[in-house]
Amino acid sequence: MDFAHIIAPKTPSAWLDMDALDHNIALVNQKTQAVKLRLATKSIRSLDVLRYIKDNSPHFIGLMSYAADESLYLLENGFDNILCAYPTLDRASVAATFDYTKQGATMIWMVDRPEHVDVLNEVGKIHDVVINICLDINMSMPLPKLYFGTKRSALMSIKDVKKLLKHIKKCRHINVSAAMGYEAQIAGLPEHLPGKALLSPAIRLLKSRSQKQVSKRRRSIVEYLNKQGYTLKLVNGGGSGSMDFTSSQPEVSEITVGSAYYKPAYFDYMDSMHEFQPAAGFVLPVTRQPEKGVITCHSGGFIASGATGADKAPVIHYPEYLSLLNDEGFGEVQTPMAISKAKKDGNAPRLSIGDVVWCRHAKAGELCEHFNELICYRQSAQSTTDGFARSEGTRPIINTKIKNQVMTTYRGKGKCFH
Ligand SMILES: Cc1ncc(COP(=O)(O)O)c(C=O)c1O
Repeated sequence: MDFAHIIAPKTPSAWLDMDALDHNIALVNQKTQAVKLRLATKSIRSLDVLRYIKDNSPHFIGLMSYAADESLYLLENGFDNILCAYPTLDRASVAATFDYTKQGATMIWMVDRPEHVDVLNEVGKIHDVVINICLDINMSMPLPKLYFGTKRSALMSIKDVKKLLKHIKKCRHINVSAAMGYEAQIAGLPEHLPGKALLSPAIRLLKSRSQKQVSKRRRSIVEYLNKQGYTLKLVNGGGSGSMDFTSSQPEVSEITVGSAYYKPAYFDYMDSMHEFQPAAGFVLPVTRQPEKGVITCHSGGFIASGATGADKAPVIHYPEYLSLLNDEGFGEVQTPMAISKAKKDGNAPRLSIGDVVWCRHAKAGELCEHFNELICYRQSAQSTTDGFARSEGTRPIINTKIKNQVMTTYRGKGKCFH
């Protein structure tokens, strides 16, 4: 997007670069064509965007949701084939999905412990429904002094699975229909964390060792389930950072992708994401100038989830010669920024009150928790049948804001899922 020439219709606001989104959609489709594609809703958090990606992804199979009430909301809004990726205790929402599953919709719930199964079995029993479940296989690599992966699932070996299956066999309202092995330490861990350059070779080495273990473990557990007579509708794996690896794994029938579409700042630090383009962010107005060399924008915060660190702060996307102040970071309701003389090139615009600063969130879906809508911009001169305004040829864009062309976020619909 040509940030130098775009006029944001309002600030603060969130932006969605439709050209970059299209580029990312095409790249995901190309990289994952060997398997089916499931969209990670937590990394999109907008029904409009989910529909847009779905409509442009030929091997789209369904959604990976993050909460039971969100799964219900997706069914209510016409989506089908939903895999809720994290175990739930929300009995009411599970029960409410039966209105849709009885009409033929597919809804699968994640488990890795008997307690998860019991909750679902209890709800199934009350409503006389058999519930489809997915076994979450832990793909982490525990080493003597380092746990390389995430601490979520209690199922790491065939022995663990066998034990859980023994419990499941006693549950008449449960059907094992899927398995998931999400290799988070490969798909979601950047090699180049800010200020941690020395760790890069070690992370690369660990990732490559871990790939071998992931292949072996996921495959052997799927084979075991097949041998035991379970007919798996799907074997899910991967995430944005592991598209090449996961799509090449024979036991995997589908991959989940979310963050790659917006390509937030955290993914800039990942080797496998270099071809993707930043497609979403937010724009803040400059409202103050406390001293020479410092401007202050209205709004701030927007720190991403996870272990706290510099990699969780938003990044300034344009103009590039700005930097954050250590004392205030990304602010609260105001964010001061230093104008770096060294970086400022001769042609870069001089910022004054009323100008804007374009930024990107570190994580994908979390951006949408702060804005009711993503304002769509498009620059390329293609067909205009979709109603997006475009510039003609190579003329600079004056205002690429598209009338009525916004993508409403979950938040904009008054929804907040946890
Ligand atoms: C279970 C699971 N699958 C897949 C993903 C990948 O999502 P993304 O592509 O947004 O990184 C995640 C992200 O945390 C996840 O928790």
